[in-house]
Amino acid sequence: MCGIVGFIGQGNVQEVLISGLEKLEYRGYDSAGIFVIDQANQAHLFKEEGRIAKLKTVVDFELATKVGIGHTRWATHGPAAKHNAHPHQSPSGRFVLVHNGVIENFNQLREEYLNGVTLQSQTDTEIAVAIIEHFAVNEDLSGKEAFKKALSVIEGSYAFGLIDVENPDVMYAAKNKSPLLIGKGQGFNMICSDAMAGIAYTNQYIEIKDKELITLTADQVTIEDFQGQVIDRPAYVAELDASDLEKGTYPYYMIKEIDEQPAVMRRLIQEYQGPNGHFEVEASLTKDLLAADRVYIVACGTSNHAGWVGKSLLEKLVKLPTEVHLSSEFAYQLPLLSEHPFFIFLTQSGETADSRQALVKVNELGYPSLTITNVKGSTLSREASHTLLLHAGPEIAVASTKAYTAQIAVMAVLADALAHEKYGQSSMDMVRELSIVASAMETILADKDKINEWASQNLLATRNAFYIGRLLDYYVAMESALKLKEISYIQTEAFAAGELKHGTIALVEEGTPVIGLITDPSVAAHTRGNIEEVRARGAQTMVISTKVTAKAEDDFVLPSVHANLTPLATVIVTQLIAYFTTLGKGYDVDKPRNLAKSVTVE
Ligand code: F6R
Repeated sequence: MCGIVGFIGQGNVQEVLISGLEKLEYRGYDSAGIFVIDQANQAHLFKEEGRIAKLKTVVDFELATKVGIGHTRWATHGPAAKHNAHPHQSPSGRFVLVHNGVIENFNQLREEYLNGVTLQSQTDTEIAVAIIEHFAVNEDLSGKEAFKKALSVIEGSYAFGLIDVENPDVMYAAKNKSPLLIGKGQGFNMICSDAMAGIAYTNQYIEIKDKELITLTADQVTIEDFQGQVIDRPAYVAELDASDLEKGTYPYYMIKEIDEQPAVMRRLIQEYQGPNGHFEVEASLTKDLLAADRVYIVACGTSNHAGWVGKSLLEKLVKLPTEVHLSSEFAYQLPLLSEHPFFIFLTQSGETADSRQALVKVNELGYPSLTITNVKGSTLSREASHTLLLHAGPEIAVASTKAYTAQIAVMAVLADALAHEKYGQSSMDMVRELSIVASAMETILADKDKINEWASQNLLATRNAFYIGRLLDYYVAMESALKLKEISYIQTEAFAAGELKHGTIALVEEGTPVIGLITDPSVAAHTRGNIEEVRARGAQTMVISTKVTAKAEDDFVLPSVHANLTPLATVIVTQLIAYFTTLGKGYDVDKPRNLAKSVTVE
């Protein structure tokens, strides 16, 4: 969702901005633009609807420039169109702004300050930049003071990068709720939505906290609060390998990331295995969790689906009652909490606005929390009491694959560590079982052709499809359905297999694809019964089973993994089903329409 890059200092500003925006493409966007000032202090604005590749065709890379800001826009106010693309200019062109977030009081601001001003776009951002100019002109404020005044009246979420054309040796930035970082370099400084955008130029980053004003020149960064108090904050080193951000020989990031999953499992074993052979996490985390009488897992989308598997692991191995909630609901209506609750936030990006809002609530109430994330230093990681990292490497494809399996594996790590602390042992050897999972994943990944064949034969022409399963298989069905629908646009629903007959079976007609997940022997016969019911009504079925539940006629038999970890194997098949179906339909696998990777607005 909207990406920001800003650069001031020595270098080809256009190239830095464009390459940074390309690194942010994964977040999802529908238009893009850059604004630069050249050495003769002339301003240049380039923007286009659509991909950065299109923007590149209009940018003048020959200009010798000294400062610039760039943006990828994911439409919120006003459709995807060139006139709505950022950067936005104030009415006279003096101020130029990029923005990620949603300004909630934009109508009110417009009425109060912009009477008679003609706007060029339908965006809340243009209102923000216009009121900066309003304060500069009508209250005779410097560019910086006008920005500060505007920030004091703007309500909502924002990450801003601002250039004052009258003062082109300086760039300003500020944030509230939306992510933004400072990148520190030699002879230059940057701002960016995440470290990936700047990693080709610097690995030194400084976090920006909400409601701070940042002033950047080529050699200096000043952070101050809105009262003008200067804040000294050291830089940290972003542990990102620029080569992780490349596709290498793969045609798409999604298939690269699917293929990386066995390696991620092995890396997690290395990261979390303690000297006693089992998994260990920080003692303060185990202490807080074991003091809890109930765990609340809060997450969105794919992360929420991983949460359901996490719940089953905590309940089975640690006997810790666990609830799973959707962040966007939870933030605004807390369930009746237990006496000693503990909150786990599962978030690949660590920036999801819905989850962050829920964490803000939990922090207000003073409860302990853990963020499980792939991004060290992300907002939810900083704001929770504890963090566990997914160590999955950057996930660029919008559809999450390796982050989902890493989230489940980290929940398994946590459950194992807690079980050992609580009982002195665990009912399963988690280290061994996760390494078996890694090998099982490899076996499944070697069978891509078979999965491609099934998907090509059965899914390319359908408008809708179903995944069904019981217990853990139902949780995987939820994730599998999301994966297929979000990239192939086939309307796919997941059902607890036993629920179908209570209404949904009415939707099954001749040829409707129904994929049954059958990995649990205790309910296998029942799910097979449900498969027969849909077959009898014309469904085109596929059965994915495991060695302990397999029948000769099943379409895909998974290698054996521990019963508590079957989702880690099953989902590899369904990720590949989604991937091959989407390829077959000719859609962009990595960048599905309407979606953003990092969902930074509520
Ligand atoms: C789907 C997907 C999303 C995210 C969700 C939460 O493939 O990736 O459903 O899981 O937007 O994002 P994070 O995990 O970053 O909080």
